[in-house]
Amino acid sequence: MHPQVKIDADPSAGWRDRMARQKLAELDRAHLRRRMVDAARTDSIWMVRNGRRLLSFSCNDYLNLAQHPALKQAAVEAIQRHGVGAGASRLVTGNHPLFRTLETRLARLKQTEAACVFGSGYLANAGIIPALLGREDLVLIDELAHACLWAGARLTRGTVLPYRHNDVGHAEALLAQHRERHRYALIATDGVFSMDGDLAPLPDLATLARRHDAWLMTDDAHGIGVIGGGRGSTFAHGVAVEVDLQMGTLSKAIGGYGAYLAASRPVIDLVHNRARTLIYSTGLPAAVVAAAIAALDLIERDPAYAAQPVANAKMFARLVGLPEAQSPIVPVIVGSAEAALASARLLEAEGFLVIPIRPPTVPEGTARLRLSFSALHPQPEIERLAELIRTRILAQ
Ligand SMILES: Cc1ncc(COP(=O)(O)O)c(C=O)c1O
Repeated sequence: MHPQVKIDADPSAGWRDRMARQKLAELDRAHLRRRMVDAARTDSIWMVRNGRRLLSFSCNDYLNLAQHPALKQAAVEAIQRHGVGAGASRLVTGNHPLFRTLETRLARLKQTEAACVFGSGYLANAGIIPALLGREDLVLIDELAHACLWAGARLTRGTVLPYRHNDVGHAEALLAQHRERHRYALIATDGVFSMDGDLAPLPDLATLARRHDAWLMTDDAHGIGVIGGGRGSTFAHGVAVEVDLQMGTLSKAIGGYGAYLAASRPVIDLVHNRARTLIYSTGLPAAVVAAAIAALDLIERDPAYAAQPVANAKMFARLVGLPEAQSPIVPVIVGSAEAALASARLLEAEGFLVIPIRPPTVPEGTARLRLSFSALHPQPEIERLAELIRTRILAQ
């Protein structure tokens, strides 16, 4: 008998769907159920969703490069030359020559000896941290760090201690208390926080890391291309900051997909040998790598354009009366998940796409509209959005 038939005929199979439905009903009751909705991008800022054309403030394509002709052309040429898929892990036969070009460019941008490209940001963080630390080691992590930094930290099976958001004093107290019982230690933080848009206090964290003989790792998914003259959060503090492990993604301002670690040569060589998400995962397609190289060309050529998303975010925050924006991300915290859903519906009726962000992505009671500003958002639309949020959402 075909195994599929046997499973379908099994009367006990019913509990599996019952369990799934019950959990979904719980999420529904708490206004926390998520659904995928078809969202077709018509250009770099407009989308069609539920049959309506909406101006999106929820894409991370800060520089509007995902639809840029130069990136499209680079991707098409790479497909013609190298084919669609890499065909194997980079450690086997999937290491097409474009990787070397991209890694050289990333290392130059980040001012490190070397860089290594990963399949995605999640894969990078889940691979890098356990490649360097293990059971005997200590990871200090900002409580609001991205889920995949947490995943990487936990995969070490070592001691993982969260410190209060951006609270260097708390991180210091934890190091003072725990450091000497561990072989190696790592401080892990987002460079730009993905749901709050604020920057990590990198100069102070770097000093702390040196003092306690710890690595400092940043996840700069939302910094590269838009902060620090396009170089990322390491370069946004007016002083040279020593960050041992600069991780970031190619999926936000760079407009494509994938991620990287920029670090010293020996560390990158070790990552090639130890990062399981690199070793046991197929290399990125050549088209994506070629597009990332084209994106870096554009960013390096035009730093004024790279600064535009943050300028737009600052203008919006000023109009609404929010604290000054430090990055292209501006949170508008409304509190309950229900209020976030209602606010997003209100904005959608006015032609804006702003996806509500609810727990567990953000802490309980801090559900929010997370706005991401891009270089090409028209100023009159930013003004109209600010007015709506100020008068119809925050004034409630
Ligand atoms: C801070 C941060 N790190 C990592 C990731 C994951 O990157 P990727 O989408 O490439 O897996 C994201 C979001 O996607 C992010 O916001």
